[in-house]
Amino acid sequence: MRKYNSRKRILVTGGAGFLGSHLIDRLLERGDEILCADNLFTGTKRNIEHLFNHPNFEFLRHDVTFPIYVEVDQIYNLACPASPIHYQHDPVQTTKTSVHGAINLLGLAKRVRARIFQASTSEVYGDPAVHPQTEDYWGNVNPIGIRSCYDEGKRCAETLFFDYHRQHGLDIRVARIFNTYGPRMHPNDGRVVSNFIVQALLGEDITIYGEGRQTRSFCYVDDLIEGFIRFMNIPSGIDGSPGFPGPLNLGNPGEFTIRELAEKIIVLTGSHSKLVFKPLPADDPMQRRPDISCAQQHLDGWTPQVPLEDGLKKTIAYFDELLMAGH
Ligand SMILES: NC(=O)c1ccc[n+]([C@@H]2O[C@H](COP(=O)([O-])OP(=O)(O)OC[C@H]3O[C@@H](n4cnc5c(N)ncnc54)[C@H](O)[C@@H]3O)[C@@H](O)[C@H]2O)c1
Repeated sequence: MRKYNSRKRILVTGGAGFLGSHLIDRLLERGDEILCADNLFTGTKRNIEHLFNHPNFEFLRHDVTFPIYVEVDQIYNLACPASPIHYQHDPVQTTKTSVHGAINLLGLAKRVRARIFQASTSEVYGDPAVHPQTEDYWGNVNPIGIRSCYDEGKRCAETLFFDYHRQHGLDIRVARIFNTYGPRMHPNDGRVVSNFIVQALLGEDITIYGEGRQTRSFCYVDDLIEGFIRFMNIPSGIDGSPGFPGPLNLGNPGEFTIRELAEKIIVLTGSHSKLVFKPLPADDPMQRRPDISCAQQHLDGWTPQVPLEDGLKKTIAYFDELLMAGH
């Protein structure tokens, strides 16, 4: 455990979710003190129950669309449902979570002079006309479609972060996260990796939208969290001026078709599942791959280490256990 005076007090919103719970594990390992705030919309206590007796961990059931008053040194804002099924369930609440959530947490960061990290998304690029996507690409986003509550909510949150940075000198870190997978993903969230693994383990047909020729990149959660922590800890200037604000792409540039992913999962699970094809949903991007050269330059050569097959094996083992336990 770190000494009291070097230990950081860190607020993680969305900390009971998939990424948030892994982030908290890593921060606690470093000896920081964590306040996890989550309304448990898509997150679950199961993801953090191993921490309930940890002396440096505290859980607060809180909705980020309401203000929060706490004393902290750093804030990681991850609160937001991330899968289309969940964020389309109540689209107005999704936009509120991104926009009101950002306003409330930026207000807190300004008040207590905390450094603040925003979990933004590759969805800010929409259906990109530029491939792979670099941070200076402004995106191709439908403002009125069924995915807009998420995409435009996250874009507006980025605007707010950069305005607080310019207007109030706030030390912000905006990460644009590309598809990430791993243990603790929600089994019913309709995201491609969890969907395919659960279908394969249950011996059900594997549903592919379109012909499966659309590509995605898949980053294993440990690689992403390493990127988060390195980004958040780029020091500010010696005069106290804010450090590098981003935006910064974080993800794995390895590109696979959806069909390749399904076939790999069938092999790794030893399943007899068949592939079935359904029409593509609206605004589904055809290609998605991060250009991570900016992250490599700013994060001390950070680069994803975990090959897709290794990450899939760990994720399959997690879902296998979850299904065995009857979840
Ligand atoms: N996993 C990915 O591939 C990915 C990709 C791009 C961006 N992101 C972003 O990373 C963050 C975490 O994603 P995740 O994959 O862990 O998703 P997740 O759904 O597992 O986690 C989100 C967490 O936020 C909580 N939450 C939702 N609305 C809230 C609210 N109003 N107040 C408080 N808590 C709220 C949920 O209960 C959940 O615990 C999200 O902001 C998401 O947009 C994730």
